[in-house]
Amino acid sequence: MSIITVIGTGYVGLVTGTCLADIGNQVTCVDIVKEKIERLKQGVLPIYEPGLEELVQRNVHAGRLCFTTGYKEGLDNAEFIFIAVNTPSSNGQGGADMRYVESAACSIAEELDHYAIIINKSTVPVGSGDVVSRVVKRNLKRDVRFAVVSNPEFLREGSAVQDFLHPDRVVLGSSDTEAAYKVARLYMPLRAPIVTTDLYTAEMIKYASNAFLATKISFINEIAQICERLGADVKEVAVGMGYDKRIGHAFLDAGLGYGGSCFPKDVRALAHMAGEAGLHPQLLHAVMEINHDQRRLAVTKLTNILGSLRGCTIGVLGLAFKPNTDDMREAPSIDIIRWIASQSAHVRVYDPVAMNSAHEALIRASVRVEALTFCENAYAVTEGADALIIVTEWNEFKSLDMLKVRSLMRRPVLIDGRNIYEAVEMTRLGFIYRAMGRGIGPDPSVLPSGDTTGMLHQQVKQDREEEVR
Ligand SMILES: NC(=O)c1ccc[n+]([C@@H]2O[C@H](COP(=O)([O-])OP(=O)(O)OC[C@H]3O[C@@H](n4cnc5c(N)ncnc54)[C@H](O)[C@@H]3O)[C@@H](O)[C@H]2O)c1
Repeated sequence: MSIITVIGTGYVGLVTGTCLADIGNQVTCVDIVKEKIERLKQGVLPIYEPGLEELVQRNVHAGRLCFTTGYKEGLDNAEFIFIAVNTPSSNGQGGADMRYVESAACSIAEELDHYAIIINKSTVPVGSGDVVSRVVKRNLKRDVRFAVVSNPEFLREGSAVQDFLHPDRVVLGSSDTEAAYKVARLYMPLRAPIVTTDLYTAEMIKYASNAFLATKISFINEIAQICERLGADVKEVAVGMGYDKRIGHAFLDAGLGYGGSCFPKDVRALAHMAGEAGLHPQLLHAVMEINHDQRRLAVTKLTNILGSLRGCTIGVLGLAFKPNTDDMREAPSIDIIRWIASQSAHVRVYDPVAMNSAHEALIRASVRVEALTFCENAYAVTEGADALIIVTEWNEFKSLDMLKVRSLMRRPVLIDGRNIYEAVEMTRLGFIYRAMGRGIGPDPSVLPSGDTTGMLHQQVKQDREEEVR
């Protein structure tokens, strides 16, 4: 058993602390937000994460997990101190905002009265381990030694507990091999491969991994646009590609692009780091541009069918940046709703768990609240709607009674931003259906008139017939 402190009780900190307690350690979680800590003490979680609530309760009950706002109390006898605070984009430039990490490092230094290993779990720019060392050294009140280890986190919201307990790998970076070895021992019960390297490389592994995954998403979205124009189906293309072991099936879902608290800010931060180093990261810029355009594309598909959106009612299903989370940070829904609302349309919205966070996020994004109706369920969203957009692919949307949906809508326009339905079935039910990157194969006659994709496809068909003649 080790004595561990985790600074920050967000998605990463709370999951890290709880899981480390669950494998037998004594963990104290520290956060500066009093309300969060008070609620955690009462067993109320500040975030939605499947399986986490039970795990928190079990470990609190077993006396292995506790919460405090006080660094002094939190650091008492701690052998390992994890920093898991937020590192959002800094205003304007796209670099990572290190304010919270530096503040945590400073607070640790002020209270530290014994040797401890400080482990940075936050995603931080290359070189930040040295920054943490400097800040701690500068602010120490007592003559104590400490070590700094980088240990980037790779969990995904929505499956964070499973991801933490069954990681593909654990990355540890430090110039202090003994400290890195001690941290490695903490992770031994997880039986995961452990990659040990230097601080800079460990920090870079995190950015390179996220940038690569974001690139896969933008790549398949670019392919989707080409598929749509040429009459191929990107969903089947992705299946066919994914069987190639060098490619794999993961992150090949075309749609509205990535969002959330990591990919957007991490790709931006990596591009910023490269720019600061005098480089021009062309690929990263293209990844970001394509991702932005995918969101736009959904609204363009809508206006292509409805014309002006003024006075229209548009239903939006799914608000969180992905299913199984309530996280609204950089969710595609925010841009999409803002663009629709700015055209004097009314927007009816629903998400299974993100309604509260969405309300706050949309207000923060300056969306006119009068333009919004927060509905109780998915069917309520569709009532009187001129169009429906699927923005987040929650499972419950996949099993809706689409005949009922169709009957509740004023006009049967369905924009499937996540490709969860089949075109043939939706067309049979009477929807004017548009997906992302799913051309309709060799028979364009099923498309309603006025459809530009259909026209293009018609052209391709005519060319083919001429070739045969
Ligand atoms: N969310 C993810 O899926 C994910 C996955 C991997 C890595 N990361 C990285 O992990 C880090 C944390 O992300 P998150 O999503 O958990 O953030 P979060 O915003 O959910 O949580 C951060 C927490 O830190 C607290 N905090 C801020 N400053 C503090 C301080 N000085 N002392 C104590 N507490 C403080 C905040 O109150 C908040 O509760 C980020 O660098 C992120 O990039 C996130």
